[in-house]
Amino acid sequence: MSKLWGGRFTKETNKLVEEFTASIPFDQKLAKEDIAGSLAHVQMLGECGIIPVEDAEEIKKGLHHIKEMVDHGEVEFLIEDEDIHMNIEKLLLEQIGPVGGKLHTGRSRNDQVATDMHLYLRTKTTELITLVENVQKAIVEQAKANIETLIPGYTHLQRAQPVSFAHHLMAYFWMFERDKERLIDSLKRVNWLPLGAGALAGTTFPINRERVAEILGFETIYPNSMDAVSDRDFILEFLSIGSIIMTHISRLSEELVLWSSQEFQFVELDDSFCTGSSIMPQKKNPDVPELLRGKTGRAYGNLIGLLTVLKGLPLAYNKDLQEDKEGMFDTVETLEGSLKLLAPMIETMTVKKDVMRKAINNDYSNATDIADYLVTKGLPFREAHEVIGKIVLYAIQSGKFLLDLSFDEYQQFSPLFGEDIYEVLAPEHVVAVRNSLGGTSPEQVKQQIKLAEEKLQQ
Ligand code: ARG
Repeated sequence: MSKLWGGRFTKETNKLVEEFTASIPFDQKLAKEDIAGSLAHVQMLGECGIIPVEDAEEIKKGLHHIKEMVDHGEVEFLIEDEDIHMNIEKLLLEQIGPVGGKLHTGRSRNDQVATDMHLYLRTKTTELITLVENVQKAIVEQAKANIETLIPGYTHLQRAQPVSFAHHLMAYFWMFERDKERLIDSLKRVNWLPLGAGALAGTTFPINRERVAEILGFETIYPNSMDAVSDRDFILEFLSIGSIIMTHISRLSEELVLWSSQEFQFVELDDSFCTGSSIMPQKKNPDVPELLRGKTGRAYGNLIGLLTVLKGLPLAYNKDLQEDKEGMFDTVETLEGSLKLLAPMIETMTVKKDVMRKAINNDYSNATDIADYLVTKGLPFREAHEVIGKIVLYAIQSGKFLLDLSFDEYQQFSPLFGEDIYEVLAPEHVVAVRNSLGGTSPEQVKQQIKLAEEKLQQ
């Protein structure tokens, strides 16, 4: 069978052109969506009397059969048939004969492909929301087991103040919570129906777009046919949300790489999530978090790629738009793979509480608390800061930590010091008194986890 659009042509398409312009090597991933869109369209054509109901029924039967063939991997997609839309239409014609040619009445590949993409992203976005949630659940579980586990908190990657390890982990929970909200919100715009826009200007047939929207479960219909066929904002939005998710995954991965290094040893990743070296037998490499960090680059690339494709595109459909697909598939698959690994990696990692604790015993991260102490004794904070700066310097020079200084030594710096200073400086106390809303005290962290669990239940 020749090209579906062959009538106007006097020559065969150049083979290189065929290969260059075909999208079937990648858009065959849209087979299910393409058939679903066609089923809804032909149902509507029949109901509106645009084609006879018997013809519509025959076409539906044919489409169902093709769907089964696709599901069983029995279909051979052809480059000559360019894309998923024409491949399926050709199959339909082969199955049921010329009546199959009525399917494309009142429709164009332009509104068809846009509809396929909307349907695809709707399914994938919904699945990704669950995968994000699984990561959140893994974080909550580790957090619950580590409310009292103390770890140095850093700014500038310098020890700042001790925090609960649960608190540190839960910071990522909220990043993923916002990601989830973004995904959910994006569904509003994914749920706009393009079908019925025709090639760009609408159609002369008395179609019923509301009915198609109803069958396919769309909430809104694009009110402008030109916008409908050329809008790819919903994909941009997905790619940008995907980039943000990968940023969060990458930041957490970087911490896991650091924490599992010989220098930190705060966590040990499970053997089943690490790889070895082909030459250095002692090595246990955090390849998974490294690769998660590395894969973030392709998600950004896909976003920038599509932004660049769209920039300067005149209305309405242009073949450039075919470039929207591979990046979108790639980001979907990158997110799926990454989120699926991240959850069990967090669940199975060993938290080395004693190493974390030892780190805290050997730093000056309780210095702020001496300042706060003097403030409660009436000294202005700036003056207190100055005094403590001197104490820290003195301690460093004498090779001691703040808890090692004698009471006499404290008194030399300020008569305001009482014996209770040692209690105040104990790391557990330092953490417990940061009891302001959203702070790191066990009480606040428990509240936070409770809120997180409520969110997960919604
Ligand atoms: N394969 C095309 C794409 O992905 C489908 C739409 C083709 N439309 C056209 N007028 N050539 O964008």
